[in-house]
Amino acid sequence: MGCLAIIGGTGLTRLPELQVTGRESLETPFGSPSAELVRGLLAGREVLFLARHGDPHRIPPHRVNYRANLWALREAGAATVVAVNAVGGIDAGMPPGHFCVPDDVIDYTWGRASTFFEDDLEQVTHIDFTQPYDESLRQKLLAVLAAEAYGHSSGGVYGAAQGPRLESAAEIRRMERDGCAIVGMTGMPEAALARELELPYACLALVVNPAAGKARGPIRMEDIEAVMAAGMARVGAVLAGVIDTL
Ligand code: HPA
Repeated sequence: MGCLAIIGGTGLTRLPELQVTGRESLETPFGSPSAELVRGLLAGREVLFLARHGDPHRIPPHRVNYRANLWALREAGAATVVAVNAVGGIDAGMPPGHFCVPDDVIDYTWGRASTFFEDDLEQVTHIDFTQPYDESLRQKLLAVLAAEAYGHSSGGVYGAAQGPRLESAAEIRRMERDGCAIVGMTGMPEAALARELELPYACLALVVNPAAGKARGPIRMEDIEAVMAAGMARVGAVLAGVIDTL
């Protein structure tokens, strides 16, 4: 039986709650993952942890080898993936510190290796992506967020921006018109690649700033960092709670 894999984003390079039992350097047909895979126990259950941006944090969103990351996790025995993402809030109901478990995504990224179905194919495969996130895993995350009484939204569209710069106010207004509630830089192609590998995947997003133009003045990294530190401390509790339900 496979285990839960956690992909930690900005602010979650390491998971303090994890009792580390081993580290694995894997190579994949798509290159190297962002970091060693960390194997350990979380709430007494086996999990795999991967720092999306490397450990230490050094790989920008557009340079992450998403294919190698997902491939390596599956090779190492992942059966389910929870991705943790820091995001900007577009919707007024998404203030800093709020959690969102998105139920849909719009991909605004470009130039990223976004499929495993490329060369030497026996047939072309078009995955169904009507519901990009695994609904059962989403519900489990939501149940834990509710039990912990952490402010959260049970759905919303994740707009995946290219980065590494933040957006302009007009770009955020466009994303809002498109129906995006939150904006991040790493949600895609990760979700689609997980689906190609048939790995149930859900996103636990922590809002760390109002998106561009949604608050007075520029977005300041020191504000983001303060929200991130407090929020990521809660993420460990959510992940420990969810593992009990798997
Ligand atoms: N935009 C894009 N990605 C982000 C943001 C944002 O405002 N905040 C955290 N990740």
